[in-house]
Amino acid sequence: MDLSSLDIETERLRLRAYRESDAPEIFKAITPEIATYMTFDPAQSVDEIRMVGAKWMDDAAAGREVSATIRQRDGNRFLGMCGIHYRRDPKPGLGIWIRADAHGHGYGREAVVALINFAGTVLGEAAVQYSVAEENVRSRRIPESLGGVAYGSETIQRPSGPPYPGILFRVPTS
Ligand SMILES: CC(C)(COP(=O)(O)OP(=O)(O)OC[C@H]1O[C@@H](n2cnc3c(N)ncnc32)[C@H](O)[C@@H]1OP(=O)(O)O)[C@@H](O)C(=O)NCCC(=O)NCCS
Repeated sequence: MDLSSLDIETERLRLRAYRESDAPEIFKAITPEIATYMTFDPAQSVDEIRMVGAKWMDDAAAGREVSATIRQRDGNRFLGMCGIHYRRDPKPGLGIWIRADAHGHGYGREAVVALINFAGTVLGEAAVQYSVAEENVRSRRIPESLGGVAYGSETIQRPSGPPYPGILFRVPTS
């Protein structure tokens, strides 16, 4: 399924498949703090985002995965990104980050709930996978509060960071 037209509205948010004009805002928002428990390092330039972004757009068109921006519906403020990818079981896996100055307002949870609904109703998936570093409590609360069941472990590590023990959650879509 072509995922490049993904466009989901929630009560406060709009999740929309990445487009090249998003690159400058993404670059500004991915700070080292955000990347601590992620599997990538912050980009060095907007062009680097554009290069990775070209792959995101190809992957979305091919239905392999989709990377989407999260914006506030009211005012269109850029808040972060989320994604759905088909790399491992249970499929699909979810990803999420919210800019540091917008943490703690329930945006992360609201975006993840929207992706889970999309995975269930549009993609027809029974469950999604959510992978998180054990000590990343704020992120871990999301699958835990949505009925997720821990089913495995893995190491979470970005190229320039230390390894963190991680938990794999299986979260039902209904
Ligand atoms: C993880 C992340 C996406 C969560 O988004 P957020 O909008 O800040 O989180 P929310 O406000 O939706 O809160 C999520 C949960 O954490 C809880 N929480 C909020 N602040 C917290 C804190 N300081 N300590 C512990 N839990 C906290 C919330 O109560 C909520 O749990 P609940 O649903 O049981 O009430 C965000 O913090 C982030 O981008 N972190 C950096 C990138 C990252 O680690 N991404 C996830 C990789 S798996």
